Amino acid sequence: MDNLIVENEIPDILIKWYNQNKRELPWRNINDPYKIWISEIILQQTRVIQGRNYYLRFIERFPSVKQLAEAEEDEVLKYWQGLGYYSRARNLHKAANQIMTQYDGNFPKDYSNVLTLSGVGVYTAAAICSFAYNQPYAVLDGNVYRVLSRLFGIETPIDSGAGKKEFQKIAGKLLSIENPAEYNQAIMEFGALQCVPSSPNCENCPLISMCKAFELQLVNVLPVKSKKTTVTHRFFNYIFIQYNETTFLQKRTAKDVWQNLYEFPLIETDKLLTVTELFQNENFNSLFRDVNEIDIVQITNPMKHVLSHRVINAQFISVSISGLNEKFKSLIQLEKSEIDKYPVSRLMEIFLENDMN
Ligand code: ADE
Repeated sequence: MDNLIVENEIPDILIKWYNQNKRELPWRNINDPYKIWISEIILQQTRVIQGRNYYLRFIERFPSVKQLAEAEEDEVLKYWQGLGYYSRARNLHKAANQIMTQYDGNFPKDYSNVLTLSGVGVYTAAAICSFAYNQPYAVLDGNVYRVLSRLFGIETPIDSGAGKKEFQKIAGKLLSIENPAEYNQAIMEFGALQCVPSSPNCENCPLISMCKAFELQLVNVLPVKSKKTTVTHRFFNYIFIQYNETTFLQKRTAKDVWQNLYEFPLIETDKLLTVTELFQNENFNSLFRDVNEIDIVQITNPMKHVLSHRVINAQFISVSISGLNEKFKSLIQLEKSEIDKYPVSRLMEIFLENDMN
């Protein structure tokens, strides 16, 4: 019984804390579902400070579903360049087209319809429906998992099926029915600013008296995750071709990292190649078949590009050539100054910033 009374107080305490501590952010105090959707997709895997700038630029260029749907995917990716997890941008574009054709250009209002949009899962659907329409759907993101696991001392791994169910149930029970929009914002902001992953300032927390993790000294243990992410190493030898003031790009079309972004011709190997190995490499020789003069002008030091599940070990090999073969017809030939128009990975961008001028 005591517990219940205590639990009932939590939403009001969080909302009060929120009103005293919240950050002013451009997606707050709006109810346009389109803008809320864009902000939530950006914020899923991006920090607020970085996300804010991308959000403002994105919204300025694509202020509505229609404008996003009518744009070329390349341009949408260009606006996403540097943010990572590019499937988010491809899905946004796809979903905008879905809204045009299936919902006559009107953003859906029904939770189950919102959930049908490409790239929208239960978290994003709950965020959109609560923030835009004040519907009672509880959000459950990394911040909320952390707050709930600590408050209630829950040790079930948050990345397990059982954990997801258990936390969703508690999140739903706790949801303030009068104001789901404000409550959802409040608990996420509380996780982001107060109940932070390491060394939270518990002495200064309005929920300290009801926090199980604090009582049991489990703050630094919770939340529990069961899976370790395994990291794979990959080795990319990029060929920066120099031919009469032009170079060549290709589009990564495979279902793989950086899908639909552009890059220099790539030779992927199981370790970075030396110059000798390069001249023995079948793909390298096939790329330059029948080309008489091939000069290696420069090779960068190995670059380590760390992504969530992968480390890309890369080197850029500048190769000057005297002629072309049939193979080059399948590549995009362009002046170096034109590379800028194409969406590229952050790794490509770093090379271009450092070595091109
Ligand atoms: N992270 C995810 N959604 C957020 C939001 N609306 N405000 C701040 N951080 C967030």
